[in-house]
Amino acid sequence: AFGACGSSDSGKTATGANVISKGTLTVCSDVPYPPFEDFDKTSPSGFKGFDVDIVSDIAKQLKLKLKIQDSSFDALQSGQALNAGQCDLVASAMTITDDRKKNLDFSDGYYDSKQSLLVPDNSKIASINDLKGVKVGVQQGTTGKTYTEQNAKGADIVTFPSDAEMYQAIKAGQVQALLQDLPVNLNHVADGGYKIVETYNTNEQYGLAIKKGNEQLVKDVNKALEKMHSDGSYDALYNKYFEV
Ligand code: ARG
Repeated sequence: AFGACGSSDSGKTATGANVISKGTLTVCSDVPYPPFEDFDKTSPSGFKGFDVDIVSDIAKQLKLKLKIQDSSFDALQSGQALNAGQCDLVASAMTITDDRKKNLDFSDGYYDSKQSLLVPDNSKIASINDLKGVKVGVQQGTTGKTYTEQNAKGADIVTFPSDAEMYQAIKAGQVQALLQDLPVNLNHVADGGYKIVETYNTNEQYGLAIKKGNEQLVKDVNKALEKMHSDGSYDALYNKYFEV
C-alpha cells in the first residue's frame, strides 16, 4: 500500500535532527513482510515484527512518538518516499547496497540476511539451474529480483509489487517458485506446503534508510542501535524472532 502525505508541522529532535512531524518519528515500511513487519491490530502502533520493535526502541530513546506507515517497497528503496517527505526512516528489511546509497543514507547494519528459493513441497525443482522456462516470482525493487535476473538463466521472471502478492501467486499456481529473503521464505515454510531448496550467501545486511543529508538523524539512530547492542535489548529481540 501507499503511505500518505508529508507534514507542515516539521520539527527537530533533542539533538537537532530534522523530523517531518514534530515530536514524532515517522517510519515507512512495506507491510506485510514477516517476521520483520506485519499488521497487528492489538499493538499500539498497529504493527508488529523485528523491525517494528527495533524502531520502537529507537523512537523511545530519541523521545519521539512512533508512527508507522505502510508503503510500497519500490518507493522506499529508490529514495522516493524519503525525498517526498513521507517519512523520516525506512525500516523494511532493506539491504544496504551501493546503488541505493546514491539515493539515500543508511544506518549501520542491524541484521544479516541471504536469498533463498521456495517451491511447493511436491515440486521437482531442486536448484536455481532448474528454472529454465519456469515462472519464478520476485518482488519489485528487491535484491532478490536482481539476484534472480543475474543467476536464473532462462527463467520466466514474474515481478510483483509485494511479497504477499508473490505468496498468493504461488498458492494460485501462477508461479512455480519464489526467490526472496531467507527469513521471509522460512516464514512461508512455517505456514505449510512449501520448502526451501536452496539458499544463496549474498552477504546482505539490512539497514535503516534515512533521507540523504540528514546526518544528525543517522548519528542518532546509530547511537540508539549501539545502545541496544550494549544493553542486551538487541539480543533479546533477536532471540524473540529468530531463535527457536
Ligand atoms: N532485503 C531485500 C531488499 O532489500 C528485500 C526487502 C523487502 N522488504 C519488504 N518489507 N518488503 O531488496
